[in-house]
Amino acid sequence: MSLLFFLFSLSLLSLSLSSHFGNTSYFIDCGGSTNTTDPFNTVWLSDRYFTGGAISAVSEPLHFRYPQEKNIRFFPLSSGKKNCYILPLPSGRYYFRTFTVYDNYNGKSHSPSFDASVEGTIVFSWRSPWPENLARDGAYSDLFAFVKDGEADVCFYSIATDSPVIGSLEVRQIDPLSYDSATIGDKFILVNYGRLSCGSSQWGPGFSNDTDDFGRTWQSDSEFRTPNTTKIIHSLSTGATITGTNQPPNFFPAKLYQTAVTGSGILEYELAVDAKLDYLLWFHFAEIDSRVKQKADRVFDVVVNEKNVKRVDVFEEAGSFAAYSWSYTVHNLSSTVLTVKFVPVVGAPIISGIENYALVPNDLSTAPEQVVAMRALKESLRVPDRMGWNGDPCAPTNWDTWEGVTCHPNKDETALVISQIDLGSQGLKGSISEQITLLSDLVTLNLSTNSLGGTLPSGLGQQSLSRLDLSNNQFSGPIPESLASATHLQLV
Ligand SMILES: *[C@@H]1O[C@H](CO)[C@@H](O)[C@H](O)[C@H]1NC(C)=O
Ligand SMILES: *[C@@H]1O[C@H](CO)[C@@H](O)[C@H](O)[C@H]1NC(C)=O
Ligand SMILES: *[C@@H]1O[C@H](CO)[C@@H](O)[C@H](O)[C@H]1NC(C)=O
Ligand SMILES: *[C@@H]1O[C@H](CO)[C@@H](O)[C@H](O)[C@H]1NC(C)=O
Ligand SMILES: *[C@@H]1O[C@H](CO)[C@@H](O)[C@H](O)[C@H]1NC(C)=O
Ligand SMILES: *[C@@H]1O[C@H](CO)[C@@H](O)[C@H](O)[C@H]1NC(C)=O
Repeated sequence: MSLLFFLFSLSLLSLSLSSHFGNTSYFIDCGGSTNTTDPFNTVWLSDRYFTGGAISAVSEPLHFRYPQEKNIRFFPLSSGKKNCYILPLPSGRYYFRTFTVYDNYNGKSHSPSFDASVEGTIVFSWRSPWPENLARDGAYSDLFAFVKDGEADVCFYSIATDSPVIGSLEVRQIDPLSYDSATIGDKFILVNYGRLSCGSSQWGPGFSNDTDDFGRTWQSDSEFRTPNTTKIIHSLSTGATITGTNQPPNFFPAKLYQTAVTGSGILEYELAVDAKLDYLLWFHFAEIDSRVKQKADRVFDVVVNEKNVKRVDVFEEAGSFAAYSWSYTVHNLSSTVLTVKFVPVVGAPIISGIENYALVPNDLSTAPEQVVAMRALKESLRVPDRMGWNGDPCAPTNWDTWEGVTCHPNKDETALVISQIDLGSQGLKGSISEQITLLSDLVTLNLSTNSLGGTLPSGLGQQSLSRLDLSNNQFSGPIPESLASATHLQLV
């Protein structure tokens, strides 16, 4: 029993469900100073929601199509090692897309090395030197992720002393049940490693007026075919209606199924991957050749990395001019190329689209109440920008934490917690927020030799604390009862 038949039976119902998943979206022109409308009627907001950095124009603005591609925001080290865009939005599942470009904006002919994270998990790594065309033309990258804390964090981390860059940022709400999330769970981010529309050129939001409810863009399959496949391939297209498209939860667009490739032989694709990760493949088929009139007229096998994973008879699954999709997860890769073959059994294979997503496991993030406490401390202590106190205090785990902060996993390893704060001699002029008592795993607090004032928080001296150095400051008022009675504490 295929997924498609189930969707068919829901097709009347789906009309009323089609925007069931919410419609929150942001289109941010990073580095842009005015709101602009692109040729597809998308309104791009002037730059906002960033934690720091500076703006610049690319060096050859006329080389780029749209206003939002011509400006960038960059994050020099003086704004801290880690900077973010933090967007308020309802909890849910989202499509994120970034446009990243260098175009020698700073005249240094040095494309930067940096990492980018979404919700505290590293998703993109840029390493200098970028391929020439990427540095000059820029690139769109996208993924699907859950947001559960009421705000989307997209953060950038400088490698060596390089300045991360971003040209535009899009976030759109999508159906929470899309892409098998009920089976895969919400513990992975799906990072796009190829979303191919077979037999067509690139299309979708930002590239053509064709719509896609999730904002996905689809690229041509042509550069992913092996040379032997290119020799035998033959494109098909139709203007006819394809049934079973635009259905929840994936809302695959009709246009995807209106083109296809076929060929008298094996059709083979090669997709570049990172062998450390598992991949979720989606295959899209529709019988759009009216000469195929019944089941068993066209049958072929899907072979992934030399393993035969499925025999497909599109007519038998869906009939003619009807969408049929199927997904498969690839584990334990041994090379950086994923090969996908369509091997004829009866007649020639036919394929409309292939999607390939890395299943990037969510990294641990800081316990929510400790994030609240650290943000309050950042405000009250007036921590300078150069210390990079932006985004999650501890995550991603392989980036540096906020400067002066030490973290470790909590007892059941479900979250990160703050164990140490060392901010001696940093020229701090503020006070200590009452929220510091939420740091229930704090062992060492050293704020010595600053110009901090105000009264000490009434709950300071939590059970976990064993070293406290507040010397050489201008605190006033009484020593809190909690501190005076704390016998576990070594005071300086
Ligand atoms: C988005 O959703 C809100 C609340 O459900 C609704 O009021 C609004 O009309 C929707 N906007 C669009 C463009 O669909
Ligand atoms: C851009 O549009 C947003 C939302 O409509 C508005 O709040 C903002 O003031 C506008 N910015 C500029 C620079 O016009
Ligand atoms: C998209 O549609 C709008 C309005 O119909 C039109 O003005 C614009 O030229 C179209 N853009 C492209 C790239 O086809
Ligand atoms: C391509 O086709 C030729 C001739 O059929 C064959 O000898 C060769 O092994 C094929 N190459 C690959 C990589 O499959
Ligand atoms: C992948 O490899 C791991 C460790 O070698 C093994 O435990 C696991 O069963 C493998 N998974 C699959 C799906 O083959
Ligand atoms: C606190 O930090 C200062 C350096 O700023 C250091 O001299 C001092 O020994 C530290 N205090 C403790 C108790 O480790």
